[in-house]
Order: sequence, then C-alpha cells, then structure tokens
Amino acid sequence: MDLTNRPRRLRRTDAIRRLNRETRLSAEALIYPVFVDETLSGVRPIDSLPGQNHYGLDSVCQAIEGCISHGVKHCILFGLPAHKDECGVSAWAEDGVIQQAVRAIKSQYPDFTVITDVCMCEYTSHGHCGILHGSEVDNDETLAYLAKIAVSHAAAGADMVAPSDMMDGHVAVLREALDHHGFQQTAIMAYSAKYASAFYGPFRSAAGSAPSFGDRKGYQMDPHNRKEAIRECALDAQEGADILMVKPALSYLDVIRECADTFAQPLCAYSVSGEYAMIKSAAAAGLVDEERIMCETAVSIFRAGANMLITYYAKELADAIHRGDIG
Ligand code: PBG
Repeated sequence: MDLTNRPRRLRRTDAIRRLNRETRLSAEALIYPVFVDETLSGVRPIDSLPGQNHYGLDSVCQAIEGCISHGVKHCILFGLPAHKDECGVSAWAEDGVIQQAVRAIKSQYPDFTVITDVCMCEYTSHGHCGILHGSEVDNDETLAYLAKIAVSHAAAGADMVAPSDMMDGHVAVLREALDHHGFQQTAIMAYSAKYASAFYGPFRSAAGSAPSFGDRKGYQMDPHNRKEAIRECALDAQEGADILMVKPALSYLDVIRECADTFAQPLCAYSVSGEYAMIKSAAAAGLVDEERIMCETAVSIFRAGANMLITYYAKELADAIHRGDIG
C-alpha cells in the first residue's frame, strides 16, 4: 500500500521506541511520604497501606536510608502525635513529632530533602484541618496556627513546608511568617488544588486524621470543578508559593495538564493513598500486573504535565526507572 505516513516506523525496535519517548521520568522527581508516630518505637506496618510503615522517632532514619538505597532523594513527613486537643498544640511544639523527626533526619542526612506537611487534622481531637467555631473551621483564626506550625518546621530544618489545609490566604501568611523569622530560604510547596476526595481514605486511617464529624467539603475543592483549580493555583502563586500541587493525581489529570500549561511555577502531583491501595489490592487479587500498572499510572501523571510526584511507590518506581522499564 502507498502510505506516506507510517507511525509504526518509530515503534519498530525497543531502542527507537525509547528514542521517541515524549515523557522522561527521573527518580530525582519522586517524593516519598513517611509517617512518623511519636508513640512508637521501631517500625510497624500500616494496615490500610500494604507495604508502607509507621516509623518511630528512633527509626525514622531507616525510612530515609531505604529511600537513599533506591535513589530517592526527597521525602514528605506526616506526624502522628502522642497528644491531640482542640487546637492541635503539639503541631507546633519544639519537641513535636515532626520537629524531632526533621532534626533526626537532617543531622544524619543533611542533603536529603525534607518536606513537611503543614496541617492540623492529625493534631486536633476533632480531626478537622483548623480551629473550629461551632462546626465550622474558622479560616482566619486557623492561619495564625498554620504559621506557627510552618515556622516550627523551618526552625527544625525542613527544606520546604507544604500547607495542605486549604485555608484561604494560607500561602501569604506562611511566607510572611517564615521571612519574619529569618527563613527566607524555606520553600513553600502549596497543596493548591486539593479536592475533597474519597481517595484519602487509607491515609486517614494511617494518620488517624479522619474528621470526627462532617467532612472537609467546606474547605477542600469540589471534584466537579476545573476553573476553580486555576483560581486556587493563581492565588497561591500570587501569594508566593514556590511549587504548586494538584491532589489527587489520577482522577485529575486534566487539572494537572491545565495547571502545568498555565503557571510558570513547578507543578507537583500527589498520587494519594487510595490510588496506591487500589493498585495494591487489585494486584493482590491477581487482577492486574502491579509493576506495569504502577509504571503506566506514574507515566500518565508526568505526561499530563507534572514536574514531580509524591507517591507511595517512589522506591519501586525509582527501581523501574533505573532498570529502564520506564524512563
Ligand atoms: C492532611 C493531608 C491529607 C493527605 C495529605 N495531607 C488527608 C486529608 O486531607 O484528609 C492525603 C494523602 C493521601 O491520601 O495519600 N490534610
């Protein structure tokens, strides 16, 4: 047949297919979530996230060593405090779980990037992401608490703080507080377009952060909306966010693409606990090839425009990249 265009020419050999790849992945763009439990000594598997662990303060460096041995260079920390109360005071304590964990990691591995999640839901007795007035999270009052938390993380040595609270004006307040305390070099990775998603289920049981009543729809975004994500990213960018984030990832690839095209700031995607747990359980049931699904989903997120990815599969993905399965 007389065909001028034969796209299959570029699919003919493995080497040509690799040459022709439009999306390239790097282990350096992966961020591994680490859960630190103040009440734990040693390491304990997380029931809701097969293959993931809670780390005690005495063993958090093991999590980092695990990352380093796979070529993963960045982590994001989540804390499970010994005490919770209405205002989440242990979230900004100098000897709080995250503050201690950051110091422990940074003293041993100063070049390893430590990002801290800045939120109140793991620290409040009611499990909401801020200060309650009645059954509502009070936006403006919460901002002052978030600023204290961010400054305490920066003082402990965090490289970046990542506010995941979805309060209005949070980035501006954090930037000002960080600068005021001399932390001009501490970057802000803003969870800009964070949706009120059912995909956070396994995380909430892992972090003990499910709200005791109601839901988070009054502050997290409605999954029906796309333009609102642009607005949220624009506000965070204007307020000084260094990195923008879309979360979850897989059901929001359109949002990732649009934000990547619209903003000059680097874009992070968070492939959340439910995305990981679904692959794990489908694989455990013998329904899918875990390795290939892991690779294909990660590629799709980068193809959509993400510059970096927070994923529970960071170490396995780094291995797949090094082996050349993807990349
Ligand atoms: C804290 C926070 C959550 C996640 C990251 N930071 C939970 C939530 O908002 O309910 C979810 C991460 C995941 O599911 O992997 N606010």
